[in-house]
Amino acid sequence: MSKLQRKTALVTGAASGIGRATAQALQAEGARVAGIDRDAFAPDHGLDIALKVDVTDPEQLRAAVAEISDNLGPIVVLANCAGVSPGPFAGHEMPDDVWALTVGVNLTGSFNVCRAVIPGMLAAGGGSIINIGSVMSKVGNPGYVAYVASKAGVLGLTRSLALDYAQMGIRVNTVCPGFIETPMVARSLPDDPFEAQAVLTSIRDMHPVGRLGRPEEIAAAVLWLAADASFVTGSEITVDGGFTAR
Ligand SMILES: NC(=O)c1ccc[n+]([C@@H]2O[C@H](COP(=O)([O-])OP(=O)(O)OC[C@H]3O[C@@H](n4cnc5c(N)ncnc54)[C@H](O)[C@@H]3O)[C@@H](O)[C@H]2O)c1
Repeated sequence: MSKLQRKTALVTGAASGIGRATAQALQAEGARVAGIDRDAFAPDHGLDIALKVDVTDPEQLRAAVAEISDNLGPIVVLANCAGVSPGPFAGHEMPDDVWALTVGVNLTGSFNVCRAVIPGMLAAGGGSIINIGSVMSKVGNPGYVAYVASKAGVLGLTRSLALDYAQMGIRVNTVCPGFIETPMVARSLPDDPFEAQAVLTSIRDMHPVGRLGRPEEIAAAVLWLAADASFVTGSEITVDGGFTAR
């Protein structure tokens, strides 16, 4: 029987892309899965609970975590997949609101959700938190200073929380994806189809395996950290088709 059978998991950003694939993978392992997202869920989302919640709003989060725990039991797996990547903007032209949104969702939002679920994990005797970083947690990317800074911050968030709770049964890790075929990447492409194809080809060529990743390939790493990685905490798994190997 899967170690996740009848365990309660919360996935943020679960309406799309990596979050959606992660929620489905957790469900396939028998977990009870709650999803939250700023956007509406598709009618056929299939989750045990799906709530429209903004991770930048701590009050909404507290209410959502209470509702999920009351209905599904204590949350013992958290996958922080909500994220945004607006841009590009040259560093000196970065608008205040874009910086605030990017850091607010990717870094502060991830922290907000951790803070909301940790008391329940402590009461339940432990849990596993998986934050989604990026290859951009490790390398720079021109035009995306806010995104890169937010994702580098996710590594620090992960390491520090891992140390806070290492002796209390809560493991905290980061998964760092390369470019993955999701709406986030599709949105970043130019409108012109020829230009979009050229950009997609250049993104593909950054990955030595010769393709972009699939959301399910990130979900698989999240699953391993959630269920099996009992001696792994404060660490990161890079799932990037070799992007950061050269
Ligand atoms: N796609 C990639 O190439 C890639 C690469 C590395 C890392 N990532 C990271 O993976 C995570 C998931 O990205 P994705 O590619 O699936 O993107 P996506 O756009 O398909 O999904 C992101 C989801 O997060 C939700 N979201 C955004 N802001 C939110 C908020 N304030 N509150 C709640 N939900 C919010 C969106 O509504 C969306 O459903 C992000 O953290 C992203 O930075 C993606």
